[in-house]
Amino acid sequence: MAPDVLRESFCLPLRRPLTMPHQGRLLFRMAPLCMLLSMLMVSCFNFCLCHKNSEFALTNPEKREKSSTKETERKETVAEEELEPEILEVFHPTHEWQALHPGQAVAAGSHVRLNLQTGAREVKLQDEDKFQTNLKGLKKGKRLNINTNTYTSQDLKNALAKFKEGAEMENSKEDQERQAKVKRLFRPIEELKKDFEELNVVIETDMQIMVRLINKFNSSSSSLEEKIAALFDLEYYVHQMDNAQDLLSFGGLQVVINGLNSTEPLVKEYAAFVLGAAFSSNPKVQVEAIEGGALQKLLVILATEQPLSTKKKALFALCSLLRHFPYAQQQFLKLGGLQVLRSLVQEKGMEVLAVRVVTLLYDLVTEKMFAEEDAELMRDMSPEKLQQYRQVRLLPSLQEQGWCEITAHLLALPEHDAREKVLQTLGALLATCRDHFHQDTQLRGTLGTLQAEYQALAALELQEGEDEGYFRELLDSINSLLTELR
Ligand SMILES: *[C@@H]1O[C@H](CO)[C@@H](O)[C@H](O)[C@H]1NC(C)=O
Ligand SMILES: *[C@@H]1O[C@H](CO)[C@@H](O)[C@H](O)[C@H]1NC(C)=O
Repeated sequence: MAPDVLRESFCLPLRRPLTMPHQGRLLFRMAPLCMLLSMLMVSCFNFCLCHKNSEFALTNPEKREKSSTKETERKETVAEEELEPEILEVFHPTHEWQALHPGQAVAAGSHVRLNLQTGAREVKLQDEDKFQTNLKGLKKGKRLNINTNTYTSQDLKNALAKFKEGAEMENSKEDQERQAKVKRLFRPIEELKKDFEELNVVIETDMQIMVRLINKFNSSSSSLEEKIAALFDLEYYVHQMDNAQDLLSFGGLQVVINGLNSTEPLVKEYAAFVLGAAFSSNPKVQVEAIEGGALQKLLVILATEQPLSTKKKALFALCSLLRHFPYAQQQFLKLGGLQVLRSLVQEKGMEVLAVRVVTLLYDLVTEKMFAEEDAELMRDMSPEKLQQYRQVRLLPSLQEQGWCEITAHLLALPEHDAREKVLQTLGALLATCRDHFHQDTQLRGTLGTLQAEYQALAALELQEGEDEGYFRELLDSINSLLTELR
């Protein structure tokens, strides 16, 4: 009923240790390995193998796609990204492109592409001769490139380890019959291991992959689709702090930042997507991004007419750029960022963004508050940083620019989680906006209506045995706001 993720900032939980999204992506990354195995064996046996070792099996390859193109923000809906352990429905491709639906796994060796028009992931059978050519390339020690999905030597080592486990499992008594069958049909495992070792020689490092992707994106001869695909793949790598800093070291970060003023909305969108991941809790990259003009470019996207999906990603990148970086917050205020956000929440058709904007403001308000508190309590913050936080004139600016009123009006949104965010923010703004809230009869009316609604819902929740449920919490915040405003 009340997933914890709703209570988190939409740009905060990016690089928590052992984040689920990362695991999800790792699984996704393993998908090409299954394909690779399939090429080595030239049979369907590998599918069984991938199937059996479902820990790294290809279970739901379109998840990553879905999270970017259909705007289910991977970062905020952490729990959603957990890959279900069971093998999902297997889709059997033909020689025609067909859309892959959520929950369908694709047989290894299939060809998968992203349809930029529909955002759907499409799949068809790998061409027979291409398949053979790939195999030959592999034998010659060339790097095998499947739809620009790449794998590192570590991935291969892991796969090999799994592979060994699989082989040992094959030795159990129950499997003897099958093992005999398998042996008749397929090449011995030793032979496959040798193939892997040969392959190890030509594995690209993350750095090489990023250079290749940036070159692809930066090249004037690349098609739009290729550029988007390059950014899409790059996003995966920059989640790692070291990779994001490496991207900076060879000038790749600036190339992506410049992508923000591309004339193609999709390039803007995916550039923002990469940057959002790269900035997150990565001070070095955040500093360089400010110098590279990322803040202005993001604000331009938010202030001009753009598709909703582009604005969403830009807002996400802005959020990661500002978090825990008071200097960027100062610049944001100086550049009129609050006015830009105000226009954004008042724009028609951008209601979904309003909640995110309010959440961003809530995060900034509480971050500054905690920074000052922490500095007093523990004295472990550098004096410069504390000084910078003190110079962020956030609350007075919010009040001057009418955010007390704007936030209060957003309480009329129908979704519970939107209301939850707005209530939180109203609480954070209370000291600053008290006078305004007092005079706002509409706000008190809305609070009264919501109080009745959540009293009923909390009662139902209680009947179901939840005495500290989600609705109870909402009701408590409403009650305390009403008490404060009495
Ligand atoms: C991107 O392309 C421009 C112009 O072609 C070139 O000057 C620049 O060095 C390239 N940047 C990177 C990082 O490859
Ligand atoms: C974006 O702006 C930067 C600097 O303002 C410029 O160097 C770059 O070429 C621009 N990129 C595009 C794609 O227009």
